Amino acid sequence: MIVTMTVNGDEVSNEIEGRLLLVHYLRDHLGLTGTHWGCDTSNCGTCVVWMDGEPVKSCTVLAAMAGGHEVRTVEDLEQDNVLDPVQQGFINCHGLQCGFCTPGMMMTARALLDRVPDPSESQIREAISGQICRCTGYATIVRSIQWAADHERGLAEAAAGNAGGAAAEAGEVADPSGASETPETVAAGSAS
Ligand code: FES
Ligand code: FES
Repeated sequence: MIVTMTVNGDEVSNEIEGRLLLVHYLRDHLGLTGTHWGCDTSNCGTCVVWMDGEPVKSCTVLAAMAGGHEVRTVEDLEQDNVLDPVQQGFINCHGLQCGFCTPGMMMTARALLDRVPDPSESQIREAISGQICRCTGYATIVRSIQWAADHERGLAEAAAGNAGGAAAEAGEVADPSGASETPETVAAGSAS
């Protein structure tokens, strides 16, 4: 059968067997090996990708079921050579050791922060509860996601501050022109 879907913004189409899992389609047909395959029991979560914006375990989805849908993989997190804050957080806070679980963790974390920009530790732990890391003990993964959340809030506040500063500057420039002054205020200024 022929399956057609959008993966990381590009339409792809391939002839596949009906029993092919999405994780194998992504890895073996499209070469997107960032998505890992770690178990046969749907427990490890290292295969998490997004389908229509929702995190899914791609080992539980037939490639045929993804036909006509939008799939996003870990390869799409970096944009224009800039790492996603989640990726930067995992680097800064040592959120990985062997890295095998990391793609799924990051895709889940990105989905969480898009919905909950300021998650509590328990919300983070609940979000990644469907995923297994054999190396880190999870503490550094939680810290990595908290770092990304803090960083994104800082960026948003800086952007808001810049917008406010620009508006204030525009106001300051307008005033010296005298355009907003009434005849009375100009007169008062002249008299002093
Ligand atoms: S490969 Fe383990 S849950 Fe998908
Ligand atoms: S970093 Fe090794 S399994 Fe998570």
